[in-house]
Amino acid sequence: MKERILSLVSPKYPWKDRFQWLEETDSTNDQLKKLARQGAPHGTVLIADRQSGGHGRMGRSFHSPGGVGIYFSILLRPQCAPGELMHLTCATAVAMCEAVEKAAGFRPGIKWTNDLVSGKRKLGGILTELGLSPRGGVDYAIIGIGINCCQQEADFAEEIREIAASLSMVTGKEIDRAAVAAAMMDALYRMDRMLLTEKSAILDSYRKNCITIGREISLLRVGESVRHGKAVDMDDEGALIVEFADGHREAVNSGEVSIRGMYGYL
Ligand code: BTN
Repeated sequence: MKERILSLVSPKYPWKDRFQWLEETDSTNDQLKKLARQGAPHGTVLIADRQSGGHGRMGRSFHSPGGVGIYFSILLRPQCAPGELMHLTCATAVAMCEAVEKAAGFRPGIKWTNDLVSGKRKLGGILTELGLSPRGGVDYAIIGIGINCCQQEADFAEEIREIAASLSMVTGKEIDRAAVAAAMMDALYRMDRMLLTEKSAILDSYRKNCITIGREISLLRVGESVRHGKAVDMDDEGALIVEFADGHREAVNSGEVSIRGMYGYL
């Protein structure tokens, strides 16, 4: 698989010797974090065929069976303060829309902030984790992405069967996971080159793909009760602007945002 992925990556991709394919691991994010602390360089990529402990935001697990998905983590070492990376998950989501479009022929939507979706169903998710240096700068950023590629509905665990989809279910075609992985590598390389210099163009692309804007949502934050409102925009840091029933607006950059009509929120 490793050689096939590398054969499909653009000749311009500069980190071919920083890529490892793993048959099985607990979590590519957790493994890459260990490598980051040991000094692994910018551009290191781990992709696993299956994960026994794949996880996502809010401590949720990410089902990662073998042979059907791509479980991908990349290590970046951007030279900046953590506050300059507020848009990193958004930038990754845009890059993943480009990668899926190239490899599978359709452009997914983005459910703010980190889900790739098609219709009402989730195709994949993004988990970004930062490590800080003793002086408070960014030591490393780990970006983990899981994409369902080849599953059919019956392959998903019962608890996610009605809310999950794969690239194959959307296209009705067989999906070449190596082509998906190669397109992800290329898109992330391009994203890295733009990340700190073209923030507003990146966020404009995100807004165009974001299905949350304009929808009725509920917001659940730790220690708060659920609040309902409408997502009206996204600000220049990637925070969702929500208008609540009393007319006041808040920039939301944490917590769980559910869209009415999706993932079982009626
Ligand atoms: C989410 O849906 O909240 C994010 C899911 C992120 C899953 C990917 S799979 C590769 C990497 N390793 C992990 O343990 N998580 C990410």
